[in-house]
Amino acid sequence: MLGPATPPLELVASTPKGELKNPYNADIAAIAEEGHHRYLSAGCNGCHGGGGGGGMCPPLTNDTWVYGAGDDTLFRLISLGSDGLQKQGYTRVKHEVVVGPMPPFGGIIKTSDDLWRIIAFIRSVNPDSLQHAGDPYTPPPQY
Ligand code: HEC
Repeated sequence: MLGPATPPLELVASTPKGELKNPYNADIAAIAEEGHHRYLSAGCNGCHGGGGGGGMCPPLTNDTWVYGAGDDTLFRLISLGSDGLQKQGYTRVKHEVVVGPMPPFGGIIKTSDDLWRIIAFIRSVNPDSLQHAGDPYTPPPQY
């Protein structure tokens, strides 16, 4: 059965696109600190900075979301990495100043619960993004 202990890659593989939802969206402030610990122990800070403000990689604190800001999209991006996400048909919708691939973390972050807490931390440093939590991935227009 799927639940909080399900590994992220398994949850991604067994949930139809668009249906992953963060159970902590109503409780971001309470979860943020624990999420921050997990963010640091997974090593996200090496690229995105300790507070998520960016460093050598895109900031998580601005309004530019490369594939969109929905829970479902962020969970898949962090689990599969950019290459894995693109293999599933996603393309960049927006461009950050730094454009490069993000590595997959679905095998490093042990449980879906840990990853939702990390995403809650990201929402805490980017509260405006919460209004987009339910957004589905929308491909860029084709010219
Ligand atoms: C090796 C550097 C690196 C590490 C480590 C890393 N990322 Fe990333 N991350 C990137 C890059 C580069 C991108 C842009 C991806 C793209 O353009 O396809 C990105 C994109 C993102 C985005 C989307 C940002 C946006 O503006 O749309 C999120 C959210 C994110 N990373 C979260 C995380 C989390 C959480 C972790 C730790 C579990 C993490 N990253 C670890 C390099 C990294």
